[in-house]
Amino acid sequence: TFAPRVFSGIKPSGGLTLGNYLGAIKRFVEMADGEFETIYCVVDLHAITVWQDPAELTQATREVAAGYIASGIDPEKSILFNQAAVSGHAELAWIFNCVARVGWMNRMTQFKEKAGKNAEAVSLGLYAYPALMAADILLYHATHVPVGEDQKQHVELTRDIAAKFNHDYRTDFFPLTEPVIEGPAMRVMNLRDGTKKMSKSGESDMERINMLDDADTIAKKFRKARTDPAPIPGKVKELADRPEARNLVEIYAALSGTSAEAVLAEHEGAGWGAFKPALADLAVARLGPISDEMRRLLDDPAEIDRTLARGAERARQVAAPILAKTYEIVGL
Ligand code: ADP
Ligand code: NA
Repeated sequence: TFAPRVFSGIKPSGGLTLGNYLGAIKRFVEMADGEFETIYCVVDLHAITVWQDPAELTQATREVAAGYIASGIDPEKSILFNQAAVSGHAELAWIFNCVARVGWMNRMTQFKEKAGKNAEAVSLGLYAYPALMAADILLYHATHVPVGEDQKQHVELTRDIAAKFNHDYRTDFFPLTEPVIEGPAMRVMNLRDGTKKMSKSGESDMERINMLDDADTIAKKFRKARTDPAPIPGKVKELADRPEARNLVEIYAALSGTSAEAVLAEHEGAGWGAFKPALADLAVARLGPISDEMRRLLDDPAEIDRTLARGAERARQVAAPILAKTYEIVGL
């Protein structure tokens, strides 16, 4: 049996979004306060699967770290570090590249979306990304991974890799990790196109709320968010074919700590002209103090770097015996 341990990460591939906050960071904070040992990573090796400007990558790494801390993750309690500082991630990823099957990678919907029509021209790293993610998780024998809906398939692949490793080497060394995906807004959508998820690397800044956006920008982005003309309905099932409307209602629910049902009960019959400013006020109330604290932390980059370095040292201590045992099992 495995001790309850959480691992999760965010890519430093741009500014943090409201999707990262609701789908990931907010729950990282909740889980850090629970029964789990918690390990949170800035996954810079994942970021470079798509080319990143080196100076911007360094800055984005600090921004993700600042986002974690400003949202309430205590780096003394949780282990907080950046992936490249612990070489075991890359080492275990290689072993998992040799366990995972090409056919499994071919089924990954996120790869298909990201590669688009250009699948021959993307990096080999982007293709192998899910094996690195499995290594991130299993290097610590993590039992639970809080993620947004978009990462569910990758956590399932992590289980497949663990199961195949255990089978091929006649062991029960790796746990079958559970994804933790619960609550509203586990898939926050793009504000301009309700069929796509909100992402750091989207085309236009107007399609996402950044955690560092100021109050006026947040209000403007919600005001210009795409909606349909119908008012707010009374029942969640009436949102089924209204993706933009459902998205705003779910964001409201997640930010206010209630359910979509409760938000509809409160706002039934209201128009978007009233709902959007209320949503913006809520987002500003929630994100404003976090972004103020992020800016304060980012004023002292050397201190963030020291915090990450201390976290990396602790991460190495957890990872080292697991990696050593893996090598022994494989016969390396
Ligand atoms: P991005 O797609 O913004 O680059 P990452 O790939 O770094 O985000 O994902 C970091 C975490 O944030 C993952 O747990 C992911 O599921 C979550 N996440 C990212 N975007 C969203 C979204 N739009 N809605 C909910 N969760 C999200
Ligand atoms: Na993602």
